[in-house]
Amino acid sequence: MKLLHIDSSVLGAHSVSRQVSAAIVARLRQATPSLDVHYRDLTQTPLAHLSGSHLAAAQGAPAPAELAPDLAASQAALAEFLAADIVVIGAPMYNFTIPSQLKAWIDRILVAGKTFKYDANGPQGLAGTKRVIVAISRGGYYGADTPAALGEHLETYLRWCSASSASRTRSSSSPTASRSGRNIARRRWQAR
Ligand SMILES: Cc1cc2nc3c(=O)[nH]c(=O)nc-3n(C[C@H](O)[C@H](O)[C@H](O)COP(=O)(O)O)c2cc1C
Repeated sequence: MKLLHIDSSVLGAHSVSRQVSAAIVARLRQATPSLDVHYRDLTQTPLAHLSGSHLAAAQGAPAPAELAPDLAASQAALAEFLAADIVVIGAPMYNFTIPSQLKAWIDRILVAGKTFKYDANGPQGLAGTKRVIVAISRGGYYGADTPAALGEHLETYLRWCSASSASRTRSSSSPTASRSGRNIARRRWQAR
C-alpha cells in the first residue's frame, strides 16, 4: 500500500501542521509496517505556478526546451498522487486559505481527463478511491457559529477539491491552545 505524505508549511521545525502530519504518518506506519511512504516537501522542492506555455504543452502544443523540467515535475507529481492509496497533507492556514505552495501542487494534480471529468451529472473523480487525511493548523477559530466562518477558505476549498472521502484532524496554534491542540491531534491518532 502506498502513502503520499505532503507538507506545505514554511515554518520548518516550528510548524504545527508538519508535526501533526508526521504523527499521522508514524501511526499509519505502525499499523501497517509494509506501507510504502513517499514524502514531498512543497517548500523544500516547490512546484512552479502554472504558466500558459505549460497548459498549451499539456494540450499538445510543441513545448519549448526550457519547459521540459517543469513538465517532468508536473508528471511526477501527478503520477505520485495517482499511485497513492493514502494521501496525508499538512495544510496550514495562511491568509484564510492554503499556502500557495500547496495550491501549486493542486494545480498539477487536478487535471481534466486525468483526475476528473465533467459529465451530465457535473464533476466526476477519475483518481479512484483514496483515503485523504488533512492535518489543518490555524491560529483562529472558524466555527460555523462565528462571524469568521465566512473567512474560512481552507477546509471548504480542500473538501471541494477532494474526489474521495476525507478524514481530517485539526490542531490550533494560538498561543494558549498550541500545545493542547497538537496533543489532542496526536492522541486522536494514537487511539486509532
Ligand atoms: C503568513 C501567515 C498567515 C496566517 N494567516 C492566518 C489566517 O488567515 N487565519 C488563521 O487562523 N491563522 C493564520 N495564521 C496562523 C497560522 O495558521 C498558524 O500559525 C498555523 O500554526 C500555521 O501552521 P504551520 O505552523 O504548520 O505553518 C497565519 C500564519 C502565517 C505565518
